[in-house]
Amino acid sequence: SAQPANTPRRVENLQTDKGKVPVYATGIIEQPWDGYSADDHATWATLYARQRELLVGRACNEFLQAQDAMGMTPDAIPKFVELNEVLQAATGWTLMGVEGLLPELDFFDHLANRRFPVTWWIRRPDQIDYIEEPDLFHDLFGHVPLLMNPVFADYMEAYGKGGVKAHGIGPDALQNLTRLYWYTVEFGLIRQDDGLHIFGAGIVSSKGESIYSLESDAPNRIGFDLERIMRTRYRIDTYQKTYFVIDSFEQLMDATRPDFTPIYARLATQDTIGAGTVRDEDRVFHRGTGEGWTAGGDV
Ligand code: PHE
Ligand code: FE
Repeated sequence: SAQPANTPRRVENLQTDKGKVPVYATGIIEQPWDGYSADDHATWATLYARQRELLVGRACNEFLQAQDAMGMTPDAIPKFVELNEVLQAATGWTLMGVEGLLPELDFFDHLANRRFPVTWWIRRPDQIDYIEEPDLFHDLFGHVPLLMNPVFADYMEAYGKGGVKAHGIGPDALQNLTRLYWYTVEFGLIRQDDGLHIFGAGIVSSKGESIYSLESDAPNRIGFDLERIMRTRYRIDTYQKTYFVIDSFEQLMDATRPDFTPIYARLATQDTIGAGTVRDEDRVFHRGTGEGWTAGGDV
């Protein structure tokens, strides 16, 4: 049975008492495509059609065009092997099936090697509107299209390498880096000629947040600021209180290019910032009314 083309990291020739065995990066499994039920394909179709309709004009064009270019359609759950041909030709990334969330270091190692772990299973029909853990729809529909974009593709690899490094520095550094991921890769907005658009995977895969993040008066929308973001706590149980807005993927790449080691050291001496806090020095696109916010619960 075929391994994904850009094979997983393989620790060659590991000697055991059973002879030499190939060892693959942990957590990788092949997509059991034939095992998807009619319900699974129908769930994909429902979510795909619903989100695409919502996202035209809301998501950035880079996202929508990439989804089309990859050949994602509502017709059936895409096959990773087919998407991989397009993705590898475009930016050299490879999708790998996984059962669910990976240990942090494994996740970083995959990204650092341009492998994106995608949860192989899709939510049940009764979980259409909300599911706590990432499933195939979130990972594939939400995260994968922007891997077609050369700048974003480089950002994700750099993030993986940065993650390996932060992991070696310690838990505080890792937390700073996780906040950056949260407020960009998962919940980022981008400012383009015709206004704000969505690029974060956590938003594009959510019906409610696709509307709320752009159109609600409740949340703050604040200009991207690397160290500010790395200090900002976030929500895991409600929509975000604050969204950060980048001007371009190049801005994201340039701002994150410097060595973070001295930044982590500096941040360790500073307080965190609440999920809904606005400071005088923030570049505010919209100051949230805070309507409907729940007190407490920032992580
Ligand atoms: N430049 C960062 C570092 O030195 C790595 C990084 C790149 C982190 C891109 C996040 C995003 O740690
Ligand atoms: Fe995600």
